[in-house]
Amino acid sequence: MQKILLAISLVFIGINSYAAELNIPNELKTGNASNGSSLVATCAACHGNDGNSINADWPSLAGQNQKYLYNQLNYFISGARENALMMSVIPYLKSLSSNDLLDIAAYYADSSASVGQADSNPELLSLGESLYRAGDLSRGIPACTACHSIYGEGNIQAGFPKIAGQQKGYLVSTLKEYRSQIRDTGNYSIVMQQASANLKDEDIEALANYMHGLYRK
Ligand code: HEC
Ligand code: HEC
Repeated sequence: MQKILLAISLVFIGINSYAAELNIPNELKTGNASNGSSLVATCAACHGNDGNSINADWPSLAGQNQKYLYNQLNYFISGARENALMMSVIPYLKSLSSNDLLDIAAYYADSSASVGQADSNPELLSLGESLYRAGDLSRGIPACTACHSIYGEGNIQAGFPKIAGQQKGYLVSTLKEYRSQIRDTGNYSIVMQQASANLKDEDIEALANYMHGLYRK
């Protein structure tokens, strides 16, 4: 028990020292959403016109926080994050300035996100809810609420992603990619590699279902 507790507290100590290291600014630089809207024509096929993806395997970007989106765009550009479907737009993204990337992030951050509908299977829901809210100390799984907040809105200042309403298939595949450490882009992803290390496939299914249906009442 002692060991597990230590491992979990390390996740938190870890994230705090990263935060200090990354020097999270008190005021975020804000992009220009209307310029951003003129730069995303090639993205709509997969992420939807307004950032709400219609395919369960492709992530929605609408309502996601700007800092998180901006970071991810830079990871794709540097090659730290790789995905076959995103490959097609990398040359285009590389041709943009960092202000343009910030504008794209601001555009999606300003779009309103549609709400998802969770599968109502009671066992699946209760496993998802209990893991999301409380984690499982005995299995070394931290509470997701600590960083993604109780309604899944994430943390705008720190750039922790919003996961409420996110597409289910994408949540499953990306959690598995953290668990297998394929998604490996530096300090922030290490936090998630640790948080997902002890999740079983059925835990991931339950968490994805819960997060997909999560919203502020
Ligand atoms: C052919 C389909 C396709 C196109 C076109 C596309 N994307 Fe993506 N995008 C994806 C997929 C699939 C993922 C999930 C990648 C993964 O699993 O790692 C993704 C991931 C992302 C993410 C990370 C989302 C997250 O929650 O971490 C961002 C940001 C993003 N895309 C922005 C863009 C932008 C901006 C464009 C247009 C310039 C674009 N995408 C064009 C399919 C596409
Ligand atoms: C200590 C803080 C912390 C905890 C605890 C945490 N996360 Fe995360 N989560 C993050 C950060 C930071 C990222 C962004 C990582 C990156 O840039 O790859 C993230 C990313 C994610 C993503 C990817 C979102 C996207 O759009 O691609 C999912 C899904 C996720 N977390 C789910 C969970 C679940 C489920 C739990 C609980 C079992 C959890 N997280 C616990 C900080 C945390």
